[in-house]
Amino acid sequence: MAQYVIAIDQGTTSSRAIIFDKAGSIVSTGQLEHEQIFPQAGWVEHDPMEIWNNTREVIGQALSKANLTRHDIVAVGITNQRETAVVWDRTTGLPVYNAIVWQDTRTQPIVDRLAADGGVERFKKQVGLPLATYFSGTKIVWILENVEGARAKADAGELMFGTTDSWVLWNLTGGLEGGVHATDVTNASRTLFMDLETLQWDDDILAAFDVPRSMLPEIRSSSEVYGTVNEHSLLREVPISGILGDQQAATFGQAAFDQGEAKNTYGTGNFLIFNTGTEIVHSKNGLLTTLGYKLGDAEPHYALEGSIAVTGALVQWLRDNLGMISSSEEVETLAKSVDDNGGAYFVPAFSGLFAPYWRSDARGALVGLTRFVNKGHIARAALEATAFQTREVIDAVNADSGVPLTEIKVDGGMIANNTLMQFQADILGVPVVRPVVAETTALGAAYAAGLAVGFWSGLDELRANWQEDSRWTPQMSVAERDRQLRNWKKAVTKTFGWVD
Ligand code: G3P
Repeated sequence: MAQYVIAIDQGTTSSRAIIFDKAGSIVSTGQLEHEQIFPQAGWVEHDPMEIWNNTREVIGQALSKANLTRHDIVAVGITNQRETAVVWDRTTGLPVYNAIVWQDTRTQPIVDRLAADGGVERFKKQVGLPLATYFSGTKIVWILENVEGARAKADAGELMFGTTDSWVLWNLTGGLEGGVHATDVTNASRTLFMDLETLQWDDDILAAFDVPRSMLPEIRSSSEVYGTVNEHSLLREVPISGILGDQQAATFGQAAFDQGEAKNTYGTGNFLIFNTGTEIVHSKNGLLTTLGYKLGDAEPHYALEGSIAVTGALVQWLRDNLGMISSSEEVETLAKSVDDNGGAYFVPAFSGLFAPYWRSDARGALVGLTRFVNKGHIARAALEATAFQTREVIDAVNADSGVPLTEIKVDGGMIANNTLMQFQADILGVPVVRPVVAETTALGAAYAAGLAVGFWSGLDELRANWQEDSRWTPQMSVAERDRQLRNWKKAVTKTFGWVD
């Protein structure tokens, strides 16, 4: 009898397959990193074929580590880096260009062109998002305008677009042999093209972007059977029955199902999601309005989101670009070699600043330097940047909701860093809580898939699986917190206006 669910987590830096049992515990994991391609300043690409090959391989790794076969797996869930755009040819099945990653800022001229008529909030009422390079819609336009022959092929109905959930789904379900071209509401809500009320592509917006509707996947719920895995896969005939963008998946895996619940994920970037229930709430404080989840025919849940482009990526940058540390974990040892930041503040506006500022003209700054500052202080400033940015996003959530959060559930790679988590609680002034199963992104996708096939009975059963592992409580004085926040905000203003 099949007794496990497998989740594929197609993330920014790696692709993983994680097998879960009915208690929501991890049984085994497969993981492979893929290349980060930086052709020019501000450009970030991935090779979609490498992503697909890695996906196949990590499925094999996870199955063989646990000594399982497809007969043990009841369903497949997919979760993914959300706004990364892949465009591929319907007749060859091959990408026409590398995937353009969510962090990529090359589409600023396209954003400016669209914003010339009506400003960056031109479509915000319909789609919940400002015009920004972050979202996948502008990346499709760039491909149509810059890849030779792409426009003509798109107009002839020969191109397909998908975020990486769609790319993996299409390939898993057979690709050229009848692949399913679909996405879920959460991923669709990151394109700039989906109407939040109808949950369909908006023809007027598509016309403004000049993107043919024939390229786009069908928008489905987050939990239903989209298709079954193709015969050439180790998972052949297993239903694929859950898709959630990774931040929404983490929210689901944290069992934050109800209005007023929230989570914060510490990954390449940080993403805070605040569930607003079945109500569409428009932020007055720089947050995005997005889909939370939709289970089959049930009403959709919406959310407010505070997206921060660079948090964990700053630690990778210290490692890869400066060679200051040899592994990401080392940043904590280095940060602990000093008592505080020594007056240094590091604002990692590498892709501009996302929430709550939305300043595409910003670029990174390290300020407050004196001859006293050493590597330890810089490591510390890099970690603290994550906590300060999170504080600003939580201030925005509290202002929008009018009911301050009393604690915050966290997940993601960086929460293994105790120094950061303690500083986070100090800077927030509320406890930070970590669950036993910290792989909430994959767990959320597994939950969505398992619910659709009746493996789990409903949300109550999933809620009962959530257990607290550890909690950090604030220890910093209010005066010190206020002083640090003042300095941080001053540092942020130094990043503005670097790109004309
Ligand atoms: O919006 C971008 C987000 O979905 C990427 O998440 O965890 O792959 O860095 P992650």
